[in-house]
Amino acid sequence: MALRNIRVEGDSILGKISKPITEMNEKTLTLIEDMLDTMYEANGVGLAAPQVGILKRLVVIDVSEEGDEPIILINPEIIDKDGSQTGEEGCLSVPGKSGVVTRANYVKVRAFDENMDVFELEGNGLLARAIQHELDHLDGVLYTTKVEGELTVNK
Ligand code: NI
Repeated sequence: MALRNIRVEGDSILGKISKPITEMNEKTLTLIEDMLDTMYEANGVGLAAPQVGILKRLVVIDVSEEGDEPIILINPEIIDKDGSQTGEEGCLSVPGKSGVVTRANYVKVRAFDENMDVFELEGNGLLARAIQHELDHLDGVLYTTKVEGELTVNK
């Protein structure tokens, strides 16, 4: 298990556009493993590669209760979305804060897995929110730019 350092708000890498992954290799497989370890250790439900300083289009998500349903999305693209949900959101790169964001309530995403096989995934509710939040990171967008009203500082 190897933990990566999570970059926090103010780090310019969080505002940059990530590049597609063109082939799988040992380095990227290790990155995936490390990102999962880092996300679980931080009790997060998602983590994007730029959050650990790597500008690649890769995110990991796990919204399950037990933290045993990891989802790996490489070069993900949202191909369908529907509905809307408004709720509290936070980010491992913006520690101690949260804010209300409106997102689609349903998304369908097309991505590659760690074998570089293409697949599609549908998500509702929290999973849809996590997908949209993490994909924003790949385009250098933090949820704080989408918050309605004030950011809440959590004690
Ligand atoms: Ni985030």
